[in-house]
Formats: sequence, C-alpha cells, structure tokens
Amino acid sequence: MTLKAQKFFSNRITTLLVSFFAALAPLFYYASRSSAHVFLDTALFMGFSRVVFWLMLANAVFALVVAAMRWRVAAYQLQQPKWLSALSCAAFTITVFFAIVNIAILCVMGEESSPIVWRSMAELLPFALAYIIAAALAFFFPSVTNKKVRTAIAVIIILIAVLTVLFMLYPPVYFDFLSDPMVIDNGEGYSVVFATSAAGTGYIEYEYEGQTYKLYDESSGRIRGSSTIHSIAVPYEHLDNNTYRVGSMRVFEEYAYGGRNGRSIISDDYKFFPCTGEDVTLLCVSDWHTRNNKAKEAISHLGEYDGVLMMGDAAPGLQYESEAAEYIVKFGGDISRGCMPIIYTRGNHETRGKYASQLGSALKMDRYYYETTHFGDYRFIVLDCAEDKEDSHPEYGGLVDYKTYRTGMTEWLEGLEPSDKKTITLCHAPSLFIEEDLTERAWSKLDELNSGLLISGHLHQCYLDRESEAFPVYVDGGHSGGDYIASKVTLSSEGIALYACNMDGDKVIDEFVTWK
Ligand SMILES: [Fe+2]
Repeated sequence: MTLKAQKFFSNRITTLLVSFFAALAPLFYYASRSSAHVFLDTALFMGFSRVVFWLMLANAVFALVVAAMRWRVAAYQLQQPKWLSALSCAAFTITVFFAIVNIAILCVMGEESSPIVWRSMAELLPFALAYIIAAALAFFFPSVTNKKVRTAIAVIIILIAVLTVLFMLYPPVYFDFLSDPMVIDNGEGYSVVFATSAAGTGYIEYEYEGQTYKLYDESSGRIRGSSTIHSIAVPYEHLDNNTYRVGSMRVFEEYAYGGRNGRSIISDDYKFFPCTGEDVTLLCVSDWHTRNNKAKEAISHLGEYDGVLMMGDAAPGLQYESEAAEYIVKFGGDISRGCMPIIYTRGNHETRGKYASQLGSALKMDRYYYETTHFGDYRFIVLDCAEDKEDSHPEYGGLVDYKTYRTGMTEWLEGLEPSDKKTITLCHAPSLFIEEDLTERAWSKLDELNSGLLISGHLHQCYLDRESEAFPVYVDGGHSGGDYIASKVTLSSEGIALYACNMDGDKVIDEFVTWK
C-alpha cells in the first residue's frame, strides 16, 4: 500500500464514513426484499439473497470494529499501523462493492418498485437511528475532545431522540382525502370506497325516501379506525341519481379502553349517476402499474364517459395498504370523480404481497368474480384470472392456491343461466386462466351465455382479435415503453365501438364489433 493510500485509509473520518455506509448496505438491501430477492434466488440458488444479506451484515460489524479501533484504542489514535490500514482498505472495498450491488438492484427495479423500498426504509428508520446513536455514543463520541463539537453532537442526538418519539406519537401527515371516492358495482350493490392520508374512520351520508342515512365502515357495529382505505356497502337504489357525501375522523390509536383521535373531515356533495339504457360509454383502463398520471393524460383525450372499467394491474404488488390507496382507490376516484359506477377486475399483480389478501375486504368485494346487470341494459360477467404462473412458482412464496380458486370460479360460471341482455365478459388476462381444461370450459360456457366480447389487458398491447375464439377478444393497452394507451368502449343496440388513444391523443385503434 502506498503512503498516500495508507494515509487515506488511516484517516479517522474515512473509517467513520465507511462504517456508516457499511451499516446502510444491509438496511437498504433488506428494504428491497419484497421486490428483488426472489429474482436473485431464481437466477442463482434459493437462499442466495439471504447469504448476501448476512455478508453485508458481517461487513457492517467488521467496518464498525475497524473504525472503533482507530477512534478508541489509544495506541492507534495518533498513528494507524499498516495492518489496520489494510483492514480499513478491505472494509472500504467491500462496502463499495455492496453499494454497487444495491444501486444495481435499485436501477433494475425502476420507478415501479422503488417507492416500496423507500417505504420499507422509512419503516426501518427507528432501528437505523438507534444503531447510529448507540454506535456514536459507544465508540466515537468519547473520542471527540473539542468541547463545542461535543456539545453540538449531544444536541443533535437529543433532538433526534425527541423528534422520533414525537413523530411516532403524532405522525406528521396532514389529514385529508386522497381523492374523490370510487363507487364499485360489486354485483350485489355499490361499494363506496375512498382513502385518507392517514388512518381513521369512514362513513357515507345521504338522504333516501325522506330518511337520512349515515353508514360507517364497520364490522358488527365496531367502526374500523386503523385503515386509510374506507368502504361502505350501499344498495343500488339508495345511490342511483342521488347525492351523497363521505367523511372521516383521524384515529391515532385504538385502545381496549379509550382511544386517541384527531380532526374530522367531510367531503363536498357528489351527485351519482348510474349507467342506464342502451347507449353507454365506458372508459377502459388496464395495467397502469403505478403510472396514474400517464394514464390520466391518455384519458384526457377520450372525452366524456358514463362509467369505468378498471381492468387491473395497478402496481407491481400490494405490499402495503398505501399502494392500494394510491394506485387503486385514488386512481379510481380521480378518473370517476365519485359520480359514476366502476367495475373493478383484479389484475394478477393485485394477487401479490402481504396486503393482497386484505384487498377484497378493503374494497367491500366478497369476491372478484361476479356478474352485474346494473350497468346499462347489459350483462357483465367479471372473471378473475388470479396469477399467470403455477402456484408453486417462487414469486408467490408458497402462499397461493389459485388453482382451487379458479376451479371454484369455473364451477360458478357454469352455473350461470343465459340472459336476454347482451353480454360482455371482463377478465384481466385475454387467455383467461393458466389451466387449459378450465379455460376451455370457460370459453364454452361464455359462448353458450352469448358473450359478445371479452375485454382484457395484461399484455400491455392494444388490439382486437376477431378470429381465435368463439367471440372477439379486445386487449386494452395500458402502460408500455413510457407511453400509455386508454380505451373508450361505447355500447349500443348495434354493437360495441372500441376506440383507443395514447398520451398524445393519437388514435391507436378504432373498431366496431357487432353483437352475435
Ligand atoms: Fe397483468
């Protein structure tokens, strides 16, 4: 090692910074676990990602010991020996290597998944601060001789501790609605769903036939207060052509005895119009994958519409409630403005992550496959493809049983009776299910039920296939290559007009499908 290099690695500040970044590496890497690790394991071997984590942790301890020796051992305070400089150089090199690994992971994840990493990092922040404070007090603070610097460090540490406690008790979030509500037609009535910026209660208020209703998001009389997504089931007739408002009270904590609440908010009035008659114009969106604004830009070129078909794939997964709030509820509220019905079709990416199993109850949807005859003079059959790989795929972490679910759905579909109403099928995947036998049974039954069209998404392309199945299949578009394609589906007694455009308003498709 040259003298210059030895001097650099002997520097006390260098050892301090290396120990800091060495500790940051496993923290960041751990925060990326929900989006990145399974791909590392699949590419190499199962368990590889855990090996990397423990190596990063070992390096953090190693770098801390090296720095502590430089700062605390009296003999090394003035002059660092060569062997300690060599150890310091090793800690520096390994830390740089792990930093590159983390940066590569962040780049590969891109804009879709990186917010989850930052959210996960924020969750780990109290642990990180505790580590920094403990390490600073144990190893570095006692070595600072300058009185002013010592006072400044002490003040900063006390300030961090006080702010941490304060922010834990009172999270610094302004309490408000994230957007207008979304009104989902769940086949049996409406689910009025809205989100707030922090946890609280949720309710809807309206007058119907001379009576005032105030319905809470509750379970057997107990109002839910720990969620940012609020949903209330309302009968069709109560909301159709009626005015309603929603409200919420912030809840900091719920106790067995008492609670700690914040301010209350109430929305403006919304006038709700159902889809009625033969002439119905619907907005159709799929696969926005967190790109709410890009989707809204394409939608802005499509003009007015009476209802919305949300065809799924809102985000890479649902690890946190905030993702469902931002990418499903807020997006649904923004594009429907609380005044028109929505049919929500679950995308395969909404079946992933620890919040996925709670989404149905958050949206007040007992299940994601159903039929509705309340959307104009038409019958909509909504199917749920669930996932597009075998249940045993490592991406699902052994936590899915979609084959049984799809079998049950196919049996439900086969039990449906034909209707006089013109029928449209919705399913996120244009190929329906991954099981060939179930898919064949579903196509056959849908044909028997006189389905005139399947509307889908999933492929991030936009096209109409008139040939390959018993009735045409429309793939809606969605996000692709920095652009977004949204569609307008216009139903009439003659058939279905399909028009799609991109973010610049350029026409992508303009087709007409006549009823069978
Ligand atoms: Fe998909």
